[in-house]
Amino acid sequence: MRVFSGSSNPDLAKKIARKLQAKLGKVELSCFANGETRVWVKEDISNGKAVVVQSFSYPPDEHLIEFCLIVDALKRLGVKKITAVIPWLGYCVQDRVFRPGEPLSSKVIAKILQTTKISRIITLDLHNQVIEGFFDLPFTELFGTYTIIDYLKEKGVILDTIVSPDVGALKKSNLFSESFNQPLVVINKKRDLKSGKVSIVSVSGEVKGKKVLITDDFISTGGTLIQTAKFLKSKGVKRIYACATHHFYAQGVQEKIEKSPLDMLYVTDTIQKPKDKKYKKLKIISVAGLIAETIRKYK
Ligand code: R5P
Repeated sequence: MRVFSGSSNPDLAKKIARKLQAKLGKVELSCFANGETRVWVKEDISNGKAVVVQSFSYPPDEHLIEFCLIVDALKRLGVKKITAVIPWLGYCVQDRVFRPGEPLSSKVIAKILQTTKISRIITLDLHNQVIEGFFDLPFTELFGTYTIIDYLKEKGVILDTIVSPDVGALKKSNLFSESFNQPLVVINKKRDLKSGKVSIVSVSGEVKGKKVLITDDFISTGGTLIQTAKFLKSKGVKRIYACATHHFYAQGVQEKIEKSPLDMLYVTDTIQKPKDKKYKKLKIISVAGLIAETIRKYK
């Protein structure tokens, strides 16, 4: 078995390969003069098995195309079984037609991936589990949530209260609440659909003097996290931790989080942190072990 990496998350691909005791496949990724993606798989693996690791993180369209081209190249070399590891399945937030005239983007992505003839998709923490139904192929959703819970327990992080930053996050926040045997409070959050600006209205329980953990699935503009942290600070919270499976590292967002009242943010490595950046309030926990274990299971 060979593990191939697209350009989105080579560090995670290396870690997965190491865990599987598999070699990283050689693939040259470049661009034609007209901007089109150019892929060249430099391996002789006909009849073999391959794993392709690629998050559809920024720039998502480029990463999607690159992924499709790598898979096509492998198929043409005669690879029989390709497992797609897509730690962040881009477009999965566009899981509904919000306004007439909009596409059902996550279903379009499912259709595109379907045409590549991959054997299985392994992904993590979908924004909405209905998306799995858009795929007519073996599909495994893993939960970075458990990796984060294990890490926090191992490090002995003391928590009094779990904070769900909105009603949508309740199911996941409940997992933390049960695991740490601590009460759960819910934030009443509003987002202006036009500007995307987040404002916090209220919290459902007592938080004064507590050590809280805000639990979310992803961080995009950072609005949810920063506004929640500010709100909780104004309510007298003692320590504010937060966690999310996916961090998009959008321009300037972690910098804003560093200046916020948040004490520490725990995320996983589904999306690669920009190499040149170092952050004091950010701890990255690897999901490579979880992914490798799952690949082995379906080998
Ligand atoms: C909401 O439904 C999501 O689960 C996240 O809470 C949210 O969208 C994160 O986005 P941002 O960082 O832009 O607030």
